[in-house]
Amino acid sequence: MNSPPPSLVLQSDSERNTLRIGHAIGEAMTAGSLIGLTGTLGAGKTRLTQGIGESLGIKHGQIVSPTFTICVPHEGRIPFLHLDAYRIQNPVEVDELGLDEMLENGVSLIVEWVELIKHLLPLIDLEIQIEAPTENTRSFKFYGLSPKGQQILNALELKNL
Ligand SMILES: Nc1ncnc2c1ncn2[C@@H]1O[C@H](COP(=O)(O)OP(=O)(O)OP(=O)(O)O)[C@@H](O)[C@H]1O
Ligand SMILES: [Mg+2]
Repeated sequence: MNSPPPSLVLQSDSERNTLRIGHAIGEAMTAGSLIGLTGTLGAGKTRLTQGIGESLGIKHGQIVSPTFTICVPHEGRIPFLHLDAYRIQNPVEVDELGLDEMLENGVSLIVEWVELIKHLLPLIDLEIQIEAPTENTRSFKFYGLSPKGQQILNALELKNL
């Protein structure tokens, strides 16, 4: 599939580095943002979300891949819902969450495996495609898909990550 070139590509060579990238995203994130993450099992979607959450005031250990539910709400400087689309069996499960209303109320959404439910979601602000070329290296391709997403990218570009 042909995709447009990403607006920004960042490399990480450690979990710590990935957390730092997450911190920078969280610092730049505004209320009611939808961030979609793609990447295979173990790519680092949850690690990155932990970094984002940490910068919003959520303890690292509190953010885990949702196991029994498809999503977990977190408070913080900006409240956000951590959603794992991998476990969604039926589109109705997404409809029932009322994501549009949440976004309108200023809740941000971070969605792992976003490609599986893109057609069911409101406009994605920022998509991050994660690849794992080696055991400890990760590449993050950023696509700013709305002014909100672009604003996060602009902030990331100013940092030397
Ligand atoms: N540079 C790196 N950045 C992030 N994680 C790394 C890095 N190097 C190695 N890892 C390892 O990769 C794994 C990432 O796991 P994580 O749970 O974040 O993946 P995931 O994409 O959420 O997977 P899943 O689809 O199963 O939810 C961890 O075991 C982590 O230790
Ligand atoms: Mg995960």
